[in-house]
Amino acid sequence: MTQTVSHRPVLVIDYGAQYAQLIARRVREANVYSEIVPHHISVEALLAKDPAAIILSGGPSSVYAEGAPAVNAELFEAGVPVLGICYGFQAMAKALGGEVARTGLREYGATAMTMTGAARSILSTTPAQQNVWMSHGDSVQAAPEGFEVLASTAGAPVAAFAAPGRRLFGVQWHPEVKHSDFGQKVLENFLFEEAGLTPDWTTGNVIEEQTARIREQVGSGRVICGLSGGVDSAVAAALVQRAVGDQLTCVFVDHGLLREGEAEQVERDFVAATGVKLYVAREADRFLSALSGVTDPETKRKIIGREFIRAFEEAERVLIEEAGQAGEPIRFLVQGTLYPDVVESGGGEGAANIKSHHNVGGLPEDMQFELVEPLRTLFKDEVRTVGAELGLPAEIVQRHPFPGPGLAIRIVGEVTAERLELLRKADAIARHELTSAGLDHEVWQMPVVLLADVHSVGVQGDGRSYGHPIVLRPVFSEDAMTANWSRLPYDLLARISNRITNEVEGVNRVVLDVTSKPPGTIEWE
Ligand code: XMP
Repeated sequence: MTQTVSHRPVLVIDYGAQYAQLIARRVREANVYSEIVPHHISVEALLAKDPAAIILSGGPSSVYAEGAPAVNAELFEAGVPVLGICYGFQAMAKALGGEVARTGLREYGATAMTMTGAARSILSTTPAQQNVWMSHGDSVQAAPEGFEVLASTAGAPVAAFAAPGRRLFGVQWHPEVKHSDFGQKVLENFLFEEAGLTPDWTTGNVIEEQTARIREQVGSGRVICGLSGGVDSAVAAALVQRAVGDQLTCVFVDHGLLREGEAEQVERDFVAATGVKLYVAREADRFLSALSGVTDPETKRKIIGREFIRAFEEAERVLIEEAGQAGEPIRFLVQGTLYPDVVESGGGEGAANIKSHHNVGGLPEDMQFELVEPLRTLFKDEVRTVGAELGLPAEIVQRHPFPGPGLAIRIVGEVTAERLELLRKADAIARHELTSAGLDHEVWQMPVVLLADVHSVGVQGDGRSYGHPIVLRPVFSEDAMTANWSRLPYDLLARISNRITNEVEGVNRVVLDVTSKPPGTIEWE
């Protein structure tokens, strides 16, 4: 087996804005392992993690606001390379005796930055003039003693500084944002030139590390994993399968609410790619009858969550019985928890949950399993790369986010077998056309929604028709917390509309949702 490398993390201190996760991702894109820590962590606890470098993130506050998180100056005495960004840059300047002032000169968005001398330190090999992305009210007026000013902008006399001897650096702008022209280069200069790190954290390492870790945790025990059709459970299962082979059994509860072809992807393609042992519980009828007469979306979610747990427990009982006869109890349960879930639940400052996001993977609290969570340190795009490297089908690895309760929350009105069939057809057409146009990567997801309780008038053939509208909701997003509607080409929209109204009986109108989030959520229910 390949030897696993253990990686000292680059720690990103989260000052409460949305930027910390982006910074951590960019560091990983540079093939350096990074983790996010909350800003209230003590210097001692921070150093106990043996960081290879530290990055102070941006934040929403002014350093002078009441309760604004400060940075303890002891952090800068430890000899660990530190890069301050935006708020982190100002907090650093203030802690080290520099001058930060509220000048009223706010800078927001693309801003011209000019170097004060030759390109050097973290700005090395980048142009003397460049566009950077700013978002600040306060600015650093004077750098702390011993710091060299590297650059300035119209609203920030000190836009970047460095004290290379002390391994301390900072920028007022956001290098992690793609609109900063040389942002990634600045981060890499910090990581490689100033902090002396080696870009040796790769997907291959992740697979080796996780395989070793799973084997160590599980030993010869038996493991169970629920598959949902989504990327996370598929990649988690594939990793565990790679590590412990037939000790794993996957359970797929087919609730009949998936899109066209998705059940087959799990039952046929995933099994073919991994050789995993799969137990399928065909439960479409059970879910349909439990949903009969229900129109309220939250009630739908609760019913689906409840039935899912029951179906999973029944499947589990069958497997436990089998396992018991073989003398090996099932002790472990695989979950596809991702790094953003870990960060958000640990931070305690996450945004309010607007819908009860019952993931259909959520399991009862009284289950006596030890959890195996091989994706706990990974971001979604990294999970996709790992999945591809493990040989999973592209349809699974590149699948857009899809809600656990499935098509049930894309039918506005009661869920029936006929309506599911109709929506499945419309959705398959829309997805097929999007893929043929080569635009899958341009959208975050594209819910196709059936307004089952609305009858609209149309003319089809010789007479008037009464059909249901279908809504297309293509959105672009970074994290599903906010979203904007995607400007898909008109001819693509026309093709989707023509095909749906021609090919799907019962639909005589296709409409486009042009609402951003907020105020509109991505799903209609
Ligand atoms: P909203 O509609 O709240 O959706 O803007 C944000 C993201 O969450 C997905 N979503 C769900 N996922 N169970 C899930 O597992 C749910 O009940 C659920 N509701 C919404 C949605 O598809 C989007 O990606």
